[in-house]
Amino acid sequence: MSPGNSSTLSFIESQFPVSKVSKESYKERRSVQSQTLTQLGKWWGRKPLILVRAALIGLLMPASGDPVRDREIFLKILTMDDEGMWQRKKTNIPARVLAGYLSPREQAEYLDGNRLRSGLSREERDDLQRTVFLRMNYDERLRYCYRPEEIDGPSPEAWIEINAHLGTHASSIPELVEELGTRQFGERPSVGDCFCGGGSVPFEAARIGCDVYASDLNPVAALLTWAALNIVGGGEEVVEEVKQAQQEIYDTVDRQVTEWGIEENEQGWRAYAYLYCCEVVCPECGWRIPLLPTLSVAERMDKVIAELVPDPTHKRYDILIHEGVSAEASREAKRSGTITSRGMICPNPECPGHVTPISLAAIRREHSGGLRLWESGDVVPRPDDIFQERLYCIRWQERDERSRSGVRWHFHAPTAADLEREERVLALLQERFHEWQEKGYIPSMKIEPGEKTTEPIRTRGWTHWHHLFTPRQLLHNGLFMMYSLSLNAVVQLTEMACLVSSVGNLANWNSKLSRWDNSTELAKDTFYNQALNTLYNFPARGHFFLKSAWIYPSKDYSTNILTNSQIFIRNASSIQEAVSCWITDPPYADAINYHELSEFFLAWYEKSLKNLFPDWSTDSKRALAITGTGEEFRRSMVEVYANLTRHMPDNGAQIVMFTHQDAGVWADLAMILWAAGLQVTAAWCIATETESGGLKKGNYVQGTVLLVLRKQTSEETAFLDEIAPEVEDEVKRQLDAMLALDDEDDPNFTDTDYQLAAYAAALRVLTKYRKIEDIDIMRELYRPREAGEKNPLEGVIENAVKIACDHLVPKNIDDWIWRQLGPEERFYLKGLEMESHGEYRIGAYQELARGFGIRNYQNLQASGRANEMRLKTASEFKDRDIGGEGFSSSLTRQVLFAVRQAVVEEDAAAGRVWLRTLPDYWGKRKDIIAILRYLAVLGMSETMPQWEKDAETAGILAVVVEGDHV
Ligand SMILES: C[S@@+](CC[C@H](N)C(=O)[O-])C[C@H]1O[C@@H](n2cnc3c(N)ncnc32)[C@H](O)[C@@H]1O
Repeated sequence: MSPGNSSTLSFIESQFPVSKVSKESYKERRSVQSQTLTQLGKWWGRKPLILVRAALIGLLMPASGDPVRDREIFLKILTMDDEGMWQRKKTNIPARVLAGYLSPREQAEYLDGNRLRSGLSREERDDLQRTVFLRMNYDERLRYCYRPEEIDGPSPEAWIEINAHLGTHASSIPELVEELGTRQFGERPSVGDCFCGGGSVPFEAARIGCDVYASDLNPVAALLTWAALNIVGGGEEVVEEVKQAQQEIYDTVDRQVTEWGIEENEQGWRAYAYLYCCEVVCPECGWRIPLLPTLSVAERMDKVIAELVPDPTHKRYDILIHEGVSAEASREAKRSGTITSRGMICPNPECPGHVTPISLAAIRREHSGGLRLWESGDVVPRPDDIFQERLYCIRWQERDERSRSGVRWHFHAPTAADLEREERVLALLQERFHEWQEKGYIPSMKIEPGEKTTEPIRTRGWTHWHHLFTPRQLLHNGLFMMYSLSLNAVVQLTEMACLVSSVGNLANWNSKLSRWDNSTELAKDTFYNQALNTLYNFPARGHFFLKSAWIYPSKDYSTNILTNSQIFIRNASSIQEAVSCWITDPPYADAINYHELSEFFLAWYEKSLKNLFPDWSTDSKRALAITGTGEEFRRSMVEVYANLTRHMPDNGAQIVMFTHQDAGVWADLAMILWAAGLQVTAAWCIATETESGGLKKGNYVQGTVLLVLRKQTSEETAFLDEIAPEVEDEVKRQLDAMLALDDEDDPNFTDTDYQLAAYAAALRVLTKYRKIEDIDIMRELYRPREAGEKNPLEGVIENAVKIACDHLVPKNIDDWIWRQLGPEERFYLKGLEMESHGEYRIGAYQELARGFGIRNYQNLQASGRANEMRLKTASEFKDRDIGGEGFSSSLTRQVLFAVRQAVVEEDAAAGRVWLRTLPDYWGKRKDIIAILRYLAVLGMSETMPQWEKDAETAGILAVVVEGDHV
């Protein structure tokens, strides 16, 4: 395989340690708010920095004729080898964990029960840690390690080996990058990302020593990228200055809030959080009902609940707050509430709505005048609006020197004095409302309806972004912005920009869309998901509670970026700068409405951004945002990538990242890239995202595909029938190379990686040619498609997976026997192998079925739920499934039935009796034994406990059949 006109094949074009990079990416993602860039502000779909680092180094490092050594060296550079990981070790492995890795003799030598034996020298303890650490597998080790970005690169000893292998003279990653880059491009490599979003690609590229070009259509993205490169990348000093400025503003706001007396009660307690709920009039009984999804207020430590007490005179409810209730009362309150997904449950026992929930649609309909659209000047609901907003609880902080933490917490219903303070807040806001809007301290922007932005308009009548905040939130967040901007004359741009973007952070953590989490007793961010969902109850933060959202970034992550960087707001199709490599993560088939959601932040930045960056536009340019997957989308993508290809040297490269959905989606992307003048040289799938569950279990893991591309320079035309054998050879070659590199004890590749590799191999062959027969790829891409219609090359690509499926004979089954089996039997047996590897994603089985040319396999699956996919065990097949056509009459099915019989009758002989009824039992005996043995071994897998009995029986039956005589 030789990629385009590049004389040297890069490491990432020949191999990639997908499993280790996935695990590191997952670890980074799991650090949530302590990820290096997330603390700068919210962006959706940020890519892990380690993924960018691995991809870039993989692109710059040449592959030699010794793939095993290449791999070792690559891992050394990333500190993912044994020594590198040891260097990254952060915490001690506790004695009880050590015990599990030691022989009885070693345990006696080093341990005393669950503790280390006393009297061990420091050296002995270190040796013990190292011995056990090296015995651990990658996942276990990672628990005790820093992330690679948190240490200072490989050790001096590692550099000797790296330099010896690569012929370089580096002693740091930026030096290595510069040397390798200069070799290829004659100068320090430059990396561009025209969809930079939160800035992962440009930040990491700059940190490891590349010059960078970054742009995005969206000003919020540009601001975040700017902050990443200039603040985190500005080194300790800048970070320190920024933190000081933040502290100064924080203290100034504190003084103002204290002076106004809006956050402190008569006992001198300070409010930490204010809890509000919506209130509506019940259309059935006319009472005013607070909408509370649960009556539990805080369930973890304080056990606080709300109680609704009827006030018949005013047809409303008082809300009492009880602290320190019993666990039972807390549980009961958690189950009770006045609003569920089915509608409002009126707490008035006399009301029909007490029994039958009343939908909000009905409440809106019944309300005279329906839902009113708020006017620009509104900051609270008007008295006759459907949805009123009511403060029902305040979480107070009392200073108490005697308690260990120095504070005591209280949850109380608001008193008359608290309500008076609320009024004061409203008056203070109203006094300065217009001036603050004018000066850009608080938002004034209208909400443009859209897929996501219509939600607040439709559900609450909020027409402007400031309607998404309570008066207290507007006043408080506005004070931060006012003082930040008033520093204008004295501080540098860096601090200013940082402060402005921090106000965005405040908005995210302090809006009417941030959720009160009664289990953690904390407030969640507005964008805990990718939507603008309105809530029935929500918190507003007090000043102390805002601190964590305001002060960033943590010093530990600062780094001195010394290379050149340029940041622009630009439509990706009009890039004019050339770079050595483009690494992009396009908004491809990810349903995130960046352009709409980011307006939530833009509303806060709009005016100050104009002052800070006069060249930047402050429009989210919705019309230009690339979205969807239709022909319009394909057209803009071809335009963007054709332009990028024109802006890179002939020996340059591109990596396109996108979240792996199904093969059809990415085959389509590959066609787009081909049409843009690129050829695919490799594809790898890294597990980067996870909704829940561990990577190890394979649950809920989403992959990011890295497509490696070079310029297409061939003039050759190929014919589909000529290509077929070429694809076959390439698929087999690719799979064999991967199999040869894989490590049985710590597998690098999963079944999905092999499937993906087959697609990549096919694409490599296809995109190598300028033209395939008389297919007009542009016309194919640009014409509208019927649902389910494919592009004409998809057949070739799909065939590649068929070749792969046939080539990848499951372990523990004889090659010859495998070839005798029908496609459904192969699907079933291979599917069981995937299950034994912990693969539960439905997509992986769909791919497999496609590979074997099977349309329907419902009869074979026990569960087809997303991420819970599994195939039936022998005992789970029904009697009536046997016979007829296809799988039901196959040898595998007969064997499964025999196992079932043996299990039911608790006698292997019953299985043999069934098998003996088969017409060609004696001729097929060898195959039967092979299938039984295969099932017996698979059943031992940890991931398939449901197979335990069947597998054991299959093993016994195999012995019985083997010993059978005529
Ligand atoms: C998947 S995100 C990139 C995320 C980024 N890699 C990160 O780690 O944060 C895609 C980006 O494309 C941007 N975008 C959408 N249409 C665009 C266009 N026409 N030109 C430039 N950028 C665009 C979006 O604003 C979004 O930031």
